[in-house]
Amino acid sequence: MNNHYFDTNKSLWNQKVDYHKASDFYELDNFKKGLFQPLRDIELRGLPDVRGKSLLHLQCHFGQDTLAWARLGAKVTGVDLSNKGIESARQLRDELKLDAKFVNCNVFDTRKHIQEQFDIVFTSYGVIGWLPDLKPWAKVIKESLKPGGTFYIVEFHPALMMHDHENYDLQFHYFNRPEPDEYLIEGTYADKNANLQHKEFTWSHSLSEIITPLINEGLILESFNEYPYCNWNCFPNLRTEGEQRFVYNGVKFSFPHLFELKMRRG
Ligand SMILES: C[S@@+](CC[C@H](N)C(=O)[O-])C[C@H]1O[C@@H](n2cnc3c(N)ncnc32)[C@H](O)[C@@H]1O
Repeated sequence: MNNHYFDTNKSLWNQKVDYHKASDFYELDNFKKGLFQPLRDIELRGLPDVRGKSLLHLQCHFGQDTLAWARLGAKVTGVDLSNKGIESARQLRDELKLDAKFVNCNVFDTRKHIQEQFDIVFTSYGVIGWLPDLKPWAKVIKESLKPGGTFYIVEFHPALMMHDHENYDLQFHYFNRPEPDEYLIEGTYADKNANLQHKEFTWSHSLSEIITPLINEGLILESFNEYPYCNWNCFPNLRTEGEQRFVYNGVKFSFPHLFELKMRRG
C-alpha cells in the first residue's frame, strides 16, 4: 500500500489532536470529571456487557472512547496511526489512573505489534474511509478475535458519505476505486475554526465491500442495522430531532446515516 497516503493522513491526524482535545465536541474536561459519556446509545446497546472482557479498539484517536469502555470494566487496548493521538491517549490514561494499553501503528500492521486475541474488536464513526482496502482489515479483525469473539462496528453509512455536506449535492462515489479521493481540508469536524489546512486521502466503501471480506474471513453475521439519523452532530447542516438524533437537512427522503454490524468469529 502507498505510504505517501498514510504519511499524509498521519500528519493530518497528528495536527487534529490538540484541536480535538480542546474542542467542545469532545468535552474532554467533562469526560475527565466523569460528567460526559462519549459512547453513544447505539454502541452501548450493541455491546451491553463489556465488564471483564478484553476489547481491542481500532483507530482509537486520542483514546477517549477506549477509556470510556475501560470505565465500564473492559480490559482495553487501543490502536491508532497518529503518534500524537496515542501519546495523548497514554497521558489521559495515566491522568485518570485507568488500565489500558495504547499501540501506535497502522491498523493493517496491528498483528505485527499485538499477538493477543480479544473477546471484542470495536471500531466506530469515521474509520473505514481512511483505509484503501478492507480485505486486509477484515483479516486483522479475524486474527485479533478469540474463537467466539465479537466484532462490532458503528459507522457513517456509505449513502451519507456520498453527499457534500455544504451544498447537499450527491458528489462522491459509492463504490471504491483504484485511486483515493484527494482533498485539501480546512478546520476539522470538531472545530470548524481550527487553524488547519491539510491534504487528506480517503476511500469510498460500499456496504458489500465492508461486509463481504468479513464473511470471507469466516465471521458470522449476528445483527445489521441502518439508522435514519446520526448520533453525532459532526457534519454541517444536520438538524436536531431529539437526543442523539441529527438528521441531514438537505434531502426530502429518508436515507441511512449510520450502519451497525455485529459479527462473531466461529
Ligand atoms: C474519525 S477518527 C475515529 C473517531 C473516533 N470514533 C473518535 O471520535 O474518537 C479516525 C482515526 O483513524 C485514525 N487512522 C486513520 N488512518 C489509519 C490507519 N491506516 N491505521 C490506524 N489508524 C488510522 C486516525 O489517526 C484517527 O484517529
